[in-house]
Amino acid sequence: MMFRVHSLIALVALSLSTLASIDFQDELHYVGQELPGEPVGYITKIGGVTTYVSLPKNLDEPPEKALLFLTDIYGIPLVNNKLLADQFAGKGFATFIPDYFDGDPVPVNQTGFNITEWRLRHTEETTTAPLLKVIHGLKQTGVRTFAATGYCWGGRFVLRLSQNNTIVVGVTAHPSQLIVPDDFIKLNVVGKAPLQIHSAEFDGMFSPKVAPIADSVMNATDAFSDLTPYAPGYVRVHHLGVGHGFAVRPANTSDSGQIAALQAAFETSAAFLAQHF
Ligand SMILES: *[C@@H]1O[C@H](CO)[C@@H](O)[C@H](O)[C@H]1NC(C)=O
Ligand SMILES: *[C@@H]1O[C@H](CO)[C@@H](O)[C@H](O)[C@H]1NC(C)=O
Ligand SMILES: *[C@@H]1O[C@H](CO)[C@@H](O)[C@H](O)[C@H]1NC(C)=O
Ligand SMILES: *[C@@H]1O[C@H](CO)[C@@H](O)[C@H](O)[C@H]1NC(C)=O
Ligand SMILES: *[C@@H]1O[C@H](CO)[C@@H](O)[C@H](O)[C@H]1NC(C)=O
Repeated sequence: MMFRVHSLIALVALSLSTLASIDFQDELHYVGQELPGEPVGYITKIGGVTTYVSLPKNLDEPPEKALLFLTDIYGIPLVNNKLLADQFAGKGFATFIPDYFDGDPVPVNQTGFNITEWRLRHTEETTTAPLLKVIHGLKQTGVRTFAATGYCWGGRFVLRLSQNNTIVVGVTAHPSQLIVPDDFIKLNVVGKAPLQIHSAEFDGMFSPKVAPIADSVMNATDAFSDLTPYAPGYVRVHHLGVGHGFAVRPANTSDSGQIAALQAAFETSAAFLAQHF
């Protein structure tokens, strides 16, 4: 009986996440607005891969800990990504944005851009290869411990790096392309990295229908009571009144509610990272 219920929920969850991925076109509609400010980091090559680097002030040693900032489809060119990386550096984290799109992120606000074609060029494999090169390159400069924060496209890779314990803690906001419950079952069984997720009320990807299934897996409740609650730690923060992308690309920068949600997601993320890293 338990197995029937389990597989029924799994089926429902799978069809939901399949539906959500068909809506990937929505990423373009959720482009949001540019944040004001001038990035203070710099761009260099790490492991041969273009990387935006933002270091805490007064860092006089090569860092032993690195925060990987895994972007949405807009990558390093989106100023918001660099500004947010700078904010993490301001909290004391040596922060690195790998260009895992190999110079080919989705252009911001380009009308008529064919995202279907872009997705054929960018797969899990093409994204993972440069990411691992940057991790390898950082290890060679003395980094011993990694954490990751990932937005949209980047969320999937936070899960991947947690599923094999490449990172010691992970945070993601509005992740895309996760298979729910499968990705969370795998994490629950083998993971050691605490995970914090920021979900949004209006998100068709990690939707309010899918998110509670992830909770059930990680908390070993309902159909997943044959699992064990995730000992390293699991927290989901649900943000009302905001949509997919809100933690990096506010829908309206003049709307104090949208800005407050972005800042709340940032502060909560930074606190969780600081607690575990
Ligand atoms: C996209 O274009 C709109 C309209 O010009 C603008 O308000 C918004 O800031 C742009 N978004 C980004 C992320 O640059
Ligand atoms: C976008 O690219 C896909 C894949 O190459 C193609 O099938 C489709 O017709 C293109 N769409 C537009 C609007 O050009
Ligand atoms: C960790 O996961 C990444 C992404 O799936 C994979 O490419 C990499 O080989 C894995 N590393 C180890 C040490 O298993
Ligand atoms: C999952 O478990 C944690 C830790 O016990 C708890 O704080 C949280 O509220 C639970 N979440 C859900 C959605 O049940
Ligand atoms: C953005 O927010 C401001 C302040 O709430 C509001 O006046 C404006 O109409 C909003 N713009 C859009 C496009 O919704």
